[in-house]
Amino acid sequence: LVIPDEPGLGDTATGRTFADIPTVALSQAYWDDRGPFLARLYEERGPVVSARLGQTTVVFLLGPEANRFVLLTARDALSYAAGWGWAFGQLECPRNLLTMDGAEHAVHRGLLHPAFAARRIDRYPPSIVRIIERRLAGWAARGEVDVYEEARVITLDVVGEVLLGLRPGPEIALCRAVYLHGAHRRRSEFDALLRAKIAERRTHVLDDAVGLLAQATDVCGFPLSDEQIIAHADTLLIAGHETSASLGAWALYLLVRHPAYTQRVMVELVQAPATGRAARALAHDLPLLDRALTEAERLYPPIPNAPRGTCRDLSFVGHPLPAGTLVLYSAAASHLLPGIWRDPTTFDPDRFAPPREEHKRVPYALVGFGGGPRVCIGKTLARVELLLFLAHALSRYQLSVVPDQRIVQRYGVTNRPLHGIRMRVKPR
Ligand code: HEM
Repeated sequence: LVIPDEPGLGDTATGRTFADIPTVALSQAYWDDRGPFLARLYEERGPVVSARLGQTTVVFLLGPEANRFVLLTARDALSYAAGWGWAFGQLECPRNLLTMDGAEHAVHRGLLHPAFAARRIDRYPPSIVRIIERRLAGWAARGEVDVYEEARVITLDVVGEVLLGLRPGPEIALCRAVYLHGAHRRRSEFDALLRAKIAERRTHVLDDAVGLLAQATDVCGFPLSDEQIIAHADTLLIAGHETSASLGAWALYLLVRHPAYTQRVMVELVQAPATGRAARALAHDLPLLDRALTEAERLYPPIPNAPRGTCRDLSFVGHPLPAGTLVLYSAAASHLLPGIWRDPTTFDPDRFAPPREEHKRVPYALVGFGGGPRVCIGKTLARVELLLFLAHALSRYQLSVVPDQRIVQRYGVTNRPLHGIRMRVKPR
C-alpha cells in the first residue's frame, strides 16, 4: 500500500490536492474515547480529516455520507485486504471473508450465506438457549461475575456449536482454550479437530457452516481446501465472539444502570417470554429489549472504525483520495453526531421508537454492523443470541454493578470493556 505523503493528484472540480485535507494530531482524547473525539472533529473540521497513526497517514471519512461512500457508492474501489491488512499486520493466506476483495469475496460470501440466512437462524434458538442457560446456571453460586467474560464464553460456544458443529465437552473446551485463553500450543490440535469435522462432512452432508464449505466448490470449480475452510472457521470464531461479547456486556451494563427503562423491559419479558419463539419473532415481540440492544450498538460500537485502502484515484466531497490512501470510516463518530441524535451521549432507547426513529432520519447513520452489500454476515445471528442472553440473564437474576471498579473501553481493532464489568448476582 502506497501512502501519499506528498501533495499529489488533485480533485478536478475543486482543484484541491491531498495536502489540502485538514490534518490533525491525535491527542490523548482520541485514545481515551474515540467516538466523542471524532464526532467533534467532524463538527469542527468537516467529514475528511487526515492524521498520523503510528507510521501511517490515514484519512478519516466521517459522518453518514462518508459511511455511504465507503460502504456503498465507492465500495468497488476500496480494498478490504489493504485496509484490514494494515490493521492486522501481514495477512495470512488463504484469505478469509473479511480480507477478500472482488469476485473471490462474492463467491465465498455466497457459499457461507445459507448458514446465516433468516430461515436458518430460526432453527438456532433452542441450541443458543441451551448454551446460555448452561452458563447462567453457575452464576448464583458464584455471587459475582464478570459479564464480559461470561458473554465471551457464551458467544464463542454459539459459533463453535451452532455454526461449526463442535460438541459440548472436550471439543468446546479445546476451542475455548485456543480462542479465550490464548493456548497457542493447542492450535494444531484444534486444526486437527476441524480437519476431522471437514472430512466427516465431505462424505456425509451436514448443513452447518463447515458442511456448506466442505461440499462447496470455488470460482474454478475445485473443492475448497481444508486450509481455506479452516481460515473461514477461524474468522467466524474470532469475528463472531469478541464483537458479540462486547456488545452483550455493554448492553447488560446499560440496562442495569437504567432501572426505570429496565423495569419496562421486565414487563415486556413477562408478557412475551423469550424462550420458545422463532428467531425472527424475537425483535418484534420484545421491542423494548431490541431497542436497548440497538442503543448499546450506537453508544459502544464493537468495531469503532473500519479501514479500507483505495485501489484507484477517488474523490470524496471535493477532496482527492489517490490510489493507495488508507481511509477509515467511523461508526464511533457518526453514532454521536448531535445533528442526527438527540442528546447523543444519553442512553435513550426510545429514540428508535416511532415517531422519533432517529436512525431513519439519515441513511447510514447507524453502522455498528457496517452496511451495504458487505454488511456483517453475522448480524442477525448476533442480535438473536444477544436478545436471548439479555432476556435470560434479566429474567433469572437481579443484577447490580459492583461499586469501585474502573469500567472503561479499550479501543483496538475491536473495542471491549478493558477490565471487564463485574456484577453481583441474586436469583429473582
Ligand atoms: C455484535 C456483534 C457483531 C458486530 C458489532 C459486528 C460488526 C461487524 C462489522 C462492522 C463488519 C463490517 C466491517 C467493515 O465494514 O470493514 C462485520 C463484518 C463481518 N462480520 Fe461481524 N459483527 C458482529 C458479529 C458477527 C458474528 C456473530 C459473525 C459470525 C459468526 C460475524 C462475522 C463477520 C464476517 C465474516 C464479516 C465480514 C463480512 C464480509 O465482508 O462479507 N460478525 N461485522
